[in-house]
Amino acid sequence: MTDRIALRAATPDEIPALLALWARAARGTSITDDEAGVAALLARDPECLIVATPAGDPATVLGTVIAGWDGWRCHLYRLAVDPGHRRRGIGAALLAAAEERFAALGGRRADAMVLDDNALGHRTWQAAGYHPEPRWSRWVKPLPA
Ligand SMILES: CC(C)(COP(=O)(O)OP(=O)(O)OC[C@H]1O[C@@H](n2cnc3c(N)ncnc32)[C@H](O)[C@@H]1OP(=O)(O)O)[C@@H](O)C(=O)NCCC(=O)NCCS
Repeated sequence: MTDRIALRAATPDEIPALLALWARAARGTSITDDEAGVAALLARDPECLIVATPAGDPATVLGTVIAGWDGWRCHLYRLAVDPGHRRRGIGAALLAAAEERFAALGGRRADAMVLDDNALGHRTWQAAGYHPEPRWSRWVKPLPA
């Protein structure tokens, strides 16, 4: 099935469509899920937001992943596939593309934040070779606007 999809970097003009896809397809919401947040991401790293489209229809986004590289670590965010197009290998193809990008940049390990109750996400990450590290917790502090 994945021969029928294409992968490319997202462009700033499609930010509203990506936010709409995440609203219906992603699990949970992020503090940066708004136009300014995604625009800042693409301005800093124009290649990091990878989208999957039908091979003959590059304007229709079926899935996304953010492959963030900060020069130190490789972080994956916003892995999401349109509910009508799941179990076709799109999520796996997005993760493979993200890992290819990390390898090209010199990354040594990829990680993702995964909700403890996201069983569907767990199956997908495990199928791609990821495993949890239960001894770590996420510590956060919102920053002033
Ligand atoms: C998680 C998600 C991105 C997977 O996308 P997808 O395109 O359906 O995944 P794939 O078809 O590439 O599946 C890859 C493998 O993951 C596992 N998997 C994915 N969905 C599964 C399901 N519903 N049940 C069992 N295994 C599943 C399988 O091992 C699958 O390989 P297989 O189809 O050969 O058995 C998609 O379900 C999604 O958008 N979920 C909501 C958002 C989300 O939870 N994202 C992860 C946040 S951490």
